[in-house]
Amino acid sequence: MGQVDVLQGPQVAGSVSELRAAVRQFRGAGETLALVPTMGALHEGHIALVRQAQALAQRVAVSIFVNPTQFAPNEDFSRYPRTFDTDVEKLRQAGVDLVYAPGPADMYPPGFCTQISLSGPALGLETDFRSHFFSGVAIVVAKLLTQSGADFAVFGEKDYQQLRVVTQMARDLDLAVQIVPGPTVREADGLALSSRNRYLSPEDRAVAPVIYKALTVAAAAIRAGTPPTTAVLAASTTIAEAGLRVDYVAARNADTLADLTSHQEPIRLLVAAWLGSTRLIDNIGV
Ligand code: PAJ
Repeated sequence: MGQVDVLQGPQVAGSVSELRAAVRQFRGAGETLALVPTMGALHEGHIALVRQAQALAQRVAVSIFVNPTQFAPNEDFSRYPRTFDTDVEKLRQAGVDLVYAPGPADMYPPGFCTQISLSGPALGLETDFRSHFFSGVAIVVAKLLTQSGADFAVFGEKDYQQLRVVTQMARDLDLAVQIVPGPTVREADGLALSSRNRYLSPEDRAVAPVIYKALTVAAAAIRAGTPPTTAVLAASTTIAEAGLRVDYVAARNADTLADLTSHQEPIRLLVAAWLGSTRLIDNIGV
């Protein structure tokens, strides 16, 4: 494999052995590698992570794998959008070198039985509503990182708790990778880009920006001296009055995601709420 051929598009590896062969070529040429893990259905938020990865390393790989172990039986695994050809075309335009698209049996061969037990930033928030979720994320991300041997991996702040869980896991397991956060890309009206936004009806799409607006108001109130609990309650009320069903609105320590204990710590505000049958999450720093 030589230079990126933007016209021809990225090399596609469909198995771990193909991935390793491609990475060996990069390593043989002394090149560094950054990985952007995704579940496909790519949008500008993902592409922004790709651009960040390109600034970090000489080669960029994007993985596309809708990971069954992070979906509960009642969740949207089977209807999660799968748009592989469009995704590869977007990655070609972005100048990505390598797409890693393993099948479920490559990632979870028969007899697979290893799990990662999480604590710290994985406690509460998403875990209160999706108890299986981070163990599924952790195992697939640990595999993607070790399979690729990437020097850098870029994760979006959009999924802030996921970012903190993955960062902690990489540290605890001495994974030879630097986890790099990417800022959340939003629509003009503030709605965070998400592969699930396409499920929103036009009416719900018009209501959805209330989440970011409520977060912004709460962050400003906290900066102006309002106690976080008061600001969080007001945000939760605003979001509920717009017709969403709130799973949580929370103010947590931005690094550990533990409950707030002092007045000096960095604060992250996090929300999960249902709009019709679509679950939206978002967060901002204070
Ligand atoms: P997915 O939802 O496809 O997201 C892939 C990456 O894109 C994640 O790091 C996510 O935080 C980031 N991302 C999503 N929307 C974004 C936005 N609006 N702005 C910036 N970044 C955004 O998250 C997953 O997949 C999976 O859990 C995965 C980590 C791939 C493990 O299966």
